Amino acid sequence: MKSEVLNLVCDPTTRDLLEIRSGSDARGRLQEYFVNPKTGQRFTIRNGIPIFLREGDVTGTNHRYQQMYDRYTPFYDFSTWLYSYWKGMSVEARLREYLDELVVQGGDRVLEVSVGTGRNLQFLPRNAQFFGLDISWRMLKQCQRNAAKWKLDATLFMGTAEQLPFRDEVFDSVFHFGGINFFNDQGSAIREMIRVAKSGTKFVIGDENEALAQKYEKLPVTAGFYGNRKQPIMAAVDLLPPEMQEVQVKHIAGGDLYCLSFRKP
Ligand SMILES: C[S@@+](CC[C@H](N)C(=O)[O-])C[C@H]1O[C@@H](n2cnc3c(N)ncnc32)[C@H](O)[C@@H]1O
Repeated sequence: MKSEVLNLVCDPTTRDLLEIRSGSDARGRLQEYFVNPKTGQRFTIRNGIPIFLREGDVTGTNHRYQQMYDRYTPFYDFSTWLYSYWKGMSVEARLREYLDELVVQGGDRVLEVSVGTGRNLQFLPRNAQFFGLDISWRMLKQCQRNAAKWKLDATLFMGTAEQLPFRDEVFDSVFHFGGINFFNDQGSAIREMIRVAKSGTKFVIGDENEALAQKYEKLPVTAGFYGNRKQPIMAAVDLLPPEMQEVQVKHIAGGDLYCLSFRKP
């Protein structure tokens, strides 16, 4: 684990600072792990990915979508291509509809919450430092493979958007796309993204609109993702703290998706 990462992370529950230690695992191999020196809570690092989830942390719809995305991982990148083709756009042009709202400069620390297979990262300036968090282990493993293929330096974390394992005000750019409609707690996830971002950060948060969800819930392949919605989907403008600036909602992909952007004062 890069030593710089230690200066970014914290215990996602208590926000205590962590230490990095190493010890033998069950098979006698030397493994690094993070530990909270106040509570003794350990966070293992598997295949270079720190796991900030403990037994019982993933509940409700988060648990449901974690399992669904674990199963769906092998098809995710193909479905991105397929959807773009259906829309008559290249993948890059389609993703740029929201990525171009971000402000990313050389050397910036960019955090994607719910990074998935990392498809967005390939279209951001290469001289930034990428950090990605996701709840699905298989999506993260695919992201690791994609980042290697695209020769991108991305540091990945397993955790939930509602309890980010990062210190206050450490990222220059923070975004989320594609999962928030079904998070357990959208308000907590938004507050967490704002907490870990530096003052002046521009945010992008987006997902499907209600009209697309209604189409998808009728298709056998996607019904599992979109069925049983408790209320109609809309951009979570009402959940933003009132001090956020430049709040804007635009509809992209021919109205299928919303893109909420704003700036932290
Ligand atoms: C549609 S994918 C989007 C992935 C990526 N952002 C993109 O644009 O391709 C949704 C992602 O959200 C993740 N996810 C769902 N609930 C989450 C939660 N509560 N915390 C963190 N990630 C979550 C899923 O595992 C999945 O990788």
